[in-house]
Amino acid sequence: MPIDGPGPLEQEDPDLGPVVVTEEQIRARIAEMGAQITEDYRGRTPLLVGVLKGAFMFMSDIARAIALPVEFDFMAVSSYGSATKTSGVVRIVKDLDLDLSGRHVLLVEDIVDSGLTLSYLRRNLAARGPASLEVCALLVKEGIQKSEPDFRYVGFPIPPTFVIGYGLDIAERYRNLPYICTWAG
Ligand code: IMP
Ligand code: MG
Repeated sequence: MPIDGPGPLEQEDPDLGPVVVTEEQIRARIAEMGAQITEDYRGRTPLLVGVLKGAFMFMSDIARAIALPVEFDFMAVSSYGSATKTSGVVRIVKDLDLDLSGRHVLLVEDIVDSGLTLSYLRRNLAARGPASLEVCALLVKEGIQKSEPDFRYVGFPIPPTFVIGYGLDIAERYRNLPYICTWAG
């Protein structure tokens, strides 16, 4: 049985702060979100668009919680800024392979901090003529976004601290933690 919280090796890592969302909470919430998406998209084949790298783990779990035919595509963006802060200038490092016109696109994001990356992506994808475009974000930092948030599906609102794990990194590390915790480094 998987155990929530830091394992023996991680307990010795002083950069790992308190757990914000446990493995079990992630599992339970994704099951709920998947059921909701299944209901909302019944009769359609949503195209899940994952934003690399952070969303890879969430994408894989949410996809398996959706009981519909789905298709996948990925894009990679890099935002200029420091290790823990986005500047809002977003560059597409890898673009989508598929044509979005007429598709029901569900943009899958790991975390919304300032919201700048998401608002850029939303505009960019909307311009490609999808039949619909909704956002599914695992984590949304509370009280940070300047414009009115517009996410159809949100996993967890969290306090505005830097977090790692479950796909999220600091300098490319900790993406493989099965839970989400604050970065104490
Ligand atoms: P935003 O443009 O400020 O909303 O930042 C969004 C992107 O920055 C996310 O897709 C993440 O890649 C990264 N990011 C923002 N906050 C965190 C965090 O707390 N931990 C790890 N990555 C983060
Ligand atoms: Mg990152």
